Amino acid sequence: MKNAVNIANPEGKLGVLLVGLGAVSTTTIAGTIAIRRGLAPPIGSLTQMGTIRLGKRTEGRSPAIKEFVPLASLDDIVFGGWDIFDENCYDAAKTAGVLEADLLEQIRPELEKITPMPAVFDRHYVKRLDGPNVKKGRTKKDLADQLRADIQRFKTDNGCSRVVVVWCGSTEIYMTESPAHQSVEAFERGLETNDATIPSSMIYAYAAIKEGIPYANAAPNLSADIPALLQLAQDTGSPIAGKDLKTGQTLIKTIIAPGLKARLIGVEGWYSTNILGNRDGEVLDDPESFKTKEESKKSVLDYILQPSLYPDLYKDLCHLVRINYYPPRGDNKEGWDNIDIFGWLGYKMQLKINFLCRDSILAAPIVLDTALFLDLARRAGMSGIQEWLSFYYKSPMHAPGLYPEHDLFIQLMKLKNTLRHMRGETLITHLGLEYYD
Ligand SMILES: NC(=O)c1ccc[n+]([C@@H]2O[C@H](COP(=O)([O-])OP(=O)(O)OC[C@H]3O[C@@H](n4cnc5c(N)ncnc54)[C@H](O)[C@@H]3O)[C@@H](O)[C@H]2O)c1
Repeated sequence: MKNAVNIANPEGKLGVLLVGLGAVSTTTIAGTIAIRRGLAPPIGSLTQMGTIRLGKRTEGRSPAIKEFVPLASLDDIVFGGWDIFDENCYDAAKTAGVLEADLLEQIRPELEKITPMPAVFDRHYVKRLDGPNVKKGRTKKDLADQLRADIQRFKTDNGCSRVVVVWCGSTEIYMTESPAHQSVEAFERGLETNDATIPSSMIYAYAAIKEGIPYANAAPNLSADIPALLQLAQDTGSPIAGKDLKTGQTLIKTIIAPGLKARLIGVEGWYSTNILGNRDGEVLDDPESFKTKEESKKSVLDYILQPSLYPDLYKDLCHLVRINYYPPRGDNKEGWDNIDIFGWLGYKMQLKINFLCRDSILAAPIVLDTALFLDLARRAGMSGIQEWLSFYYKSPMHAPGLYPEHDLFIQLMKLKNTLRHMRGETLITHLGLEYYD
């Protein structure tokens, strides 16, 4: 055994503040409440159902992850959040239309108590949305200060010892790094001067990080992924994770692609299309928000297949991603993938995948897991980018100069080895020669 990392115990309540009380957030909140009431099992959640093998295969040690590392208990979570609409969480869950009315009725009083705080919002960054529950401020700095005050008030009012913030708001327009993103000083000046390259999601990220609170980003917007906020996160001890939850079609892509590459099967084309009818689909119908999503969805294959190492197999890959807003489907997305592959002697084959999924059902356990793992990281003294949480994201944040790891199986190994490292257990390499000595 190596030395274990010193991890403070999860004493007291954990506030989980969600930006945007839409489909993903309300499914996370209602689901967690239902699970702690014993109404449903926590399917899809690694923190609640996962196990971790320790030591040699012959030792038979595979504790539950939640017993291996000191995670906050679901009973100690208090939810809150912000939205541009003022519906309470029960009404918002009804609007989202993901969960059955039956289940929502059983937990209605708890959900009705969760009402959104006024949001920091600017239509410039999300064209297809508008709502009444929005803060006013002369500068973006004023708005950030109001968010910081919200966080502090929430913590006091609910007797929380710790808070985590997760952006579950809409996808903003496509942006790249600007001079205001390059340093903490430039960013804070930009907040004072209302720099146009600081969208709402960065103001939330700044407020959380300035408070020294963990921050995760469920959407593909840059948000905390800029040098200024990464520096601030190091300074204040905030662990950061993102971007863009890996659910639905991209999850399947990062399961299938590593398998094709492992067997050196060539890929000539990968055409992915979706129909989606929820509010997320409506926002993504705007080309500027879609561009942010498209970039996030497209990057995964390049990194997994490594065309520079395998030019004969992947150099000419044609990868297209489409999302069509189709209201009748609501949150029940349907995705089709047509994959043109080739094998021995270049002979062509095709693979078709038709995934009838429920986006928010796949997303909710990830929001829960990342909130719990980030709280763990904070108590373990880890700050900045938490690469071990790449497992959950389409566009994993990574250190400058490193390429992101997209292969789901490598990501899972990285996550579990990080937990082993925290507890001073031997890392598992899967070498296994010792069994045959
Ligand atoms: N569902 C999934 O599987 C999945 C996967 C990956 C990423 N995402 C991303 O997660 C985000 C949430 O998805 P969803 O399906 O819940 O969408 P949604 O439209 O149902 O919910 C988003 C909510 O955020 C609110 N909002 C927007 N801007 C805000 C702001 N500045 N401040 C406060 N609230 C704000 C909206 O009013 C809305 O209620 C989207 O960006 C989506 O792209 C979802």
